[in-house]
Amino acid sequence: MVASSTLRRIPVALERNPYEVVIGAGGLAGIGAELKQAGIREGRRILVVSNADVAGPYGATCLDSLRRNGFEAELLVIEAGEQHKTPATVASIHNAAFDQRLERSSLMLALGGGVVGDMTGFAAATWLRGVGVVQVPTTLLAMVDAAIGGKTGVNHPGGKNLIGAFHQPRLVLIDPDTLSTLPRREFRAGMAEVIKYGILGDAELFQTLEACRAPDSAQGLGNSVLETILERSAAAKARVVAEDEREGGLRAILNYGHTFGHVVETLCGYGTWLHGEAVAIGMVAVGQLAMIRGSWSADDMERQQQLIAQCGLPSAWPKLDPEAVLKTLQGDKKVLDGKLRFILPTAIGSVEIRDDITREEILRCLEQLAG
Ligand code: NAD
Ligand code: GLY
Repeated sequence: MVASSTLRRIPVALERNPYEVVIGAGGLAGIGAELKQAGIREGRRILVVSNADVAGPYGATCLDSLRRNGFEAELLVIEAGEQHKTPATVASIHNAAFDQRLERSSLMLALGGGVVGDMTGFAAATWLRGVGVVQVPTTLLAMVDAAIGGKTGVNHPGGKNLIGAFHQPRLVLIDPDTLSTLPRREFRAGMAEVIKYGILGDAELFQTLEACRAPDSAQGLGNSVLETILERSAAAKARVVAEDEREGGLRAILNYGHTFGHVVETLCGYGTWLHGEAVAIGMVAVGQLAMIRGSWSADDMERQQQLIAQCGLPSAWPKLDPEAVLKTLQGDKKVLDGKLRFILPTAIGSVEIRDDITREEILRCLEQLAG
């Protein structure tokens, strides 16, 4: 097990049910002890949910640590991929919860990327009207974003994550060593969410990334920059979530790039673009919208585009029917009183929440993106 002094602990200071994000290389082998430290008593049943890509290299380490620490842990392997982020897969988790006789005091543990994390969180939120969930993210994207903050859910054919619940985890454990097996394209997709944090509030993080010659892989970043990225992103997310747990206001800024990104994911078909890739395309699209409104400079737009390219991410808007885009935007969760909500950049390190974007501005933006 990793010495606790090498672990970084970031509090998510919620009024009810606060928890920690624990970050440290090799930390997965200490998951059992960490759960006890988080106040979860031994003897509890834990349903570990993972997929084959992750359970293969990391399932045994996780189960061993839980069992050595007195937990009754069993593993459920579900299908990988965004196209399986459906109510049917959640039903299969519920079936396993039934077979394993999970009780109110039992837990589910998500070992995997954002897809496993969101579905396990939703299954936990709904089983017996709510059992505890622990998030052990194994993709960069889930480490810096999805595992923290309690948003859980599945997709509906009409839109991303339309079915879901807020259900905060009891603990988030991030072991950067698990990134060693993550495919390069997936790592890059995670970098989109890191760039997002730079734009929405951390100009220094953005500059750190700009200064990296190869920010498109863990090796290219090096351990120290990778640690900085994980810690600053987790701290930023924890801060925003603690201030606005249910997205009454401020939390909406975390959706920077996501409004157009979700349209790309939905209209191109789930699984065509990775979530992070769609967010990269969405950040460029919303940058264009902000330029049209005169609130974002061509220089900052260029810096954003440059960093997205440096991270090996796409930025070109796909060929999409503008009317279909508008219709999908209307179905987005971020529609409030019939008005579309966009997070517009104003500088590197700051964004604004706008509810006054007109249909004409969106159509003009789409026309410019189509070139
Ligand atoms: P993912 O969960 O699909 O994982 C990507 C791929 O990598 C999968 O094939 C997976 O099996 C594989 N994988 C995961 N970890 C691995 C490892 N260590 N080694 C080898 N292979 C590994 O994708 P993702 O990018 O992690 O998550 C995307 C999902 O997260 C989307 O559904 C998105 O909506 C959701 N999301 C949720 C939130 C939130 O706040 N809840 C925030 C952002 C994104
Ligand atoms: N990923 C956006 C949020 O957690 O609010």
